[in-house]
Amino acid sequence: MATIGIFDSGSGGLSVLREIRKILPEQRYIYFSDNAHCPYGEKSAQYITDRCRAITDMMLSEGASAVVVACNTATAAAIATLRSEYALPFVGMEPAVKPAATGTRSGVVGVLATAGTLKAPKYLNIKGQYADAVRIAERVGKGFVELVEAMELDGPHAEAVVRASLQPLLDEGADTIVLGCTHYPFLLPLMQRIAPEGVTFINPAPAVARRLKDVLQGSGIPLTDPHPGVELRSSGSDTTLKKLFTLI
Ligand code: DGL
Repeated sequence: MATIGIFDSGSGGLSVLREIRKILPEQRYIYFSDNAHCPYGEKSAQYITDRCRAITDMMLSEGASAVVVACNTATAAAIATLRSEYALPFVGMEPAVKPAATGTRSGVVGVLATAGTLKAPKYLNIKGQYADAVRIAERVGKGFVELVEAMELDGPHAEAVVRASLQPLLDEGADTIVLGCTHYPFLLPLMQRIAPEGVTFINPAPAVARRLKDVLQGSGIPLTDPHPGVELRSSGSDTTLKKLFTLI
């Protein structure tokens, strides 16, 4: 039997859980939304790491065999420390610059992420590997996390907030946009209406799900549990978490 812990600063990580359950439907999951401390994007690496330790300790106490850090900001800030301090496998997130650089036809890749992700050495290293091959235009998805946490996924206000960060990337000629935050896939329908035909959006969640399966198999951790299902937990109100879970 196995339990997989999955956490994010809020409900955004459900976009990763959605893809994981497509390929590992008979597994037991505990999803934790740290929404009482959300957003992480402007917080210090130390603050985020302390939160990740507390969440990992909780997951271990619940019998987790592996943990998915379903948060680009937390992965960038804390996953190396977590891996050095805990014996169980961690699977993290990173902006999908590589597939975007491969797929772009205009030669311009747009990256939407949080400030914490964009300034982290982990991302800067990835960016540096492709900066010669393509032009990378970046924007913080300002207000995107707050929209999703408020379940405001459409409407004039949400469109104005999303357009304010997305349009500059489109204006720079980006034809491939990386969703570098796990909250952002929930705003994808809105982004697709804003973007012209031919613009591709890349959500790394399916690749993360495949990576988790590989890690479990490589670690001898079962892919199923006799009591499959999802337990939702949160540090703050669980209203958004429960509502968003019905959408995945
Ligand atoms: N879902 C988190 C990510 O992928 C958002 C972090 C935040 O709370 O700002 O970065």
